Amino acid sequence: MPSPDSPVPDRRRPLVVAIDGPAASGKSSTAKWVARELGLRHVDSGSLYRAATAAALRTGVSPSNWTEASVLKAAVGIRLEPGETTFHPYLGDEDLEEELRGKDVTANVSLVAKMPKVRAWVNERVREAAEGHAVVVDGRDMGTAVFPKARVKIFLIADPWERARRRLVQRLQRAPEDEEIAAEVEALVQRDLKDEAQTQQAADAILLDTTFLTQEEQVERIVAMARQALKGPPES
Ligand code: DC
Repeated sequence: MPSPDSPVPDRRRPLVVAIDGPAASGKSSTAKWVARELGLRHVDSGSLYRAATAAALRTGVSPSNWTEASVLKAAVGIRLEPGETTFHPYLGDEDLEEELRGKDVTANVSLVAKMPKVRAWVNERVREAAEGHAVVVDGRDMGTAVFPKARVKIFLIADPWERARRRLVQRLQRAPEDEEIAAEVEALVQRDLKDEAQTQQAADAILLDTTFLTQEEQVERIVAMARQALKGPPES
């Protein structure tokens, strides 16, 4: 019988599918799709780091003067509002979704994600959203720090060139030029470096390299793993 702290998956609890990986590895779009296929809830932990950053930016205090306390104070009014399949961060009555993807938030979010008390705050919000529900969660440390007992753990990777190309196709809605991809690779490598310490592959995660997979194929594989996990016998 596993101890309460053991990372052995517990089949009596609702299913948790934890998807981690570096920037632009397709975690959130894949997680959303997997959740839709399986009728589960999706929680994007990165959106909470982004929401805390957006709230801190709105205070007008320069990011170089942000402290854990000032960011947490700014983030007090943030809540996750359940949507059809995914949760949306709100600040009071305002849906932050669009602001979260803006340049200012992206430029400053790594700083916020390095703050241990902000990490504890995000982890608590994610666990609350998942309470009592089967979920697909995505981020950098879902399979390690937040859901060490998750029954399905995936670590998504892809070649930086391919990650950059996909991101540009999404942003520009056209096939990008090689020079554009090269510049985006540079930006991605810098972001990977900034987030390196927070990005953790669980020892029992399945590494899925999506460089040569379509999104449909990666979704199919993860859905198959989740269905397999649901079939497993309950643990006593
Ligand atoms: O996945 P994303 O780009 O939306 O993540 C935004 C930032 O939050 C990025 O700096 C990585 C960080 N993050 C993290 O440190 N831990 C998570 N579980 C999720 C995101």
